[in-house]
Amino acid sequence: MPNGDTLMHAIDPALFRRVMGRFATGVTVVGFVRDGVATGMTVNAFLSVSLDPPLVLVSVRKASGFVKHVKVGSRCGISILSEQQRHLGPHFAGRREREVNARFVDHAGVPLLEGSLAGIVARIVDIHPAGDHLLYIAEVEDLADGPDARPLIFFSGRYKQIHAHDPILGWQAVDG
Ligand SMILES: Cc1cc2nc3c(=O)[nH]c(=O)nc-3n(C[C@H](O)[C@H](O)[C@H](O)COP(=O)(O)O)c2cc1C
Repeated sequence: MPNGDTLMHAIDPALFRRVMGRFATGVTVVGFVRDGVATGMTVNAFLSVSLDPPLVLVSVRKASGFVKHVKVGSRCGISILSEQQRHLGPHFAGRREREVNARFVDHAGVPLLEGSLAGIVARIVDIHPAGDHLLYIAEVEDLADGPDARPLIFFSGRYKQIHAHDPILGWQAVDG
């Protein structure tokens, strides 16, 4: 393990991406209104931050279009994708396919994707610069529960499905 005397060395970006890709996540589409039209951006750097007040965070690349349109005070709708919505991941990551049927529904004034596992309506309350990204902190204003479906997973740069297995003997003890 490294100790205090370890010299700093340059981190290889490809290795950094590969290592961080080993952290399996869900996939969200953050919906917002651009020039009066509902649109969205695929985001997996999403997390729950605080319960009181209820806060969530998304990390967004500074160069993305999202940054031009979403400011402190803007509202957005975070849709958590199910595995049936696999096609929407690339669609909202810049590979727009005309034949993709992405239907937004208005929920409390923000766009959420129809059929998502769950939706979060939130207002941006803070934006922190962090390297080439911006951390958007958003206060949760409303929640929408979706169908009882399986989540879409992103792991090692690929979309995956969860296959539930019986827990390994002894897991219950550590799960509490
Ligand atoms: C599975 C997946 C997860 C992504 N997560 C993020 C993310 O957390 N933050 C981010 O800035 N971009 C993320 N992206 C990339 C953006 O979706 C993509 O760069 C963006 O939609 C391009 O928008 P632009 O044309 O406005 O730049 C992700 C892409 C994929 C496929």
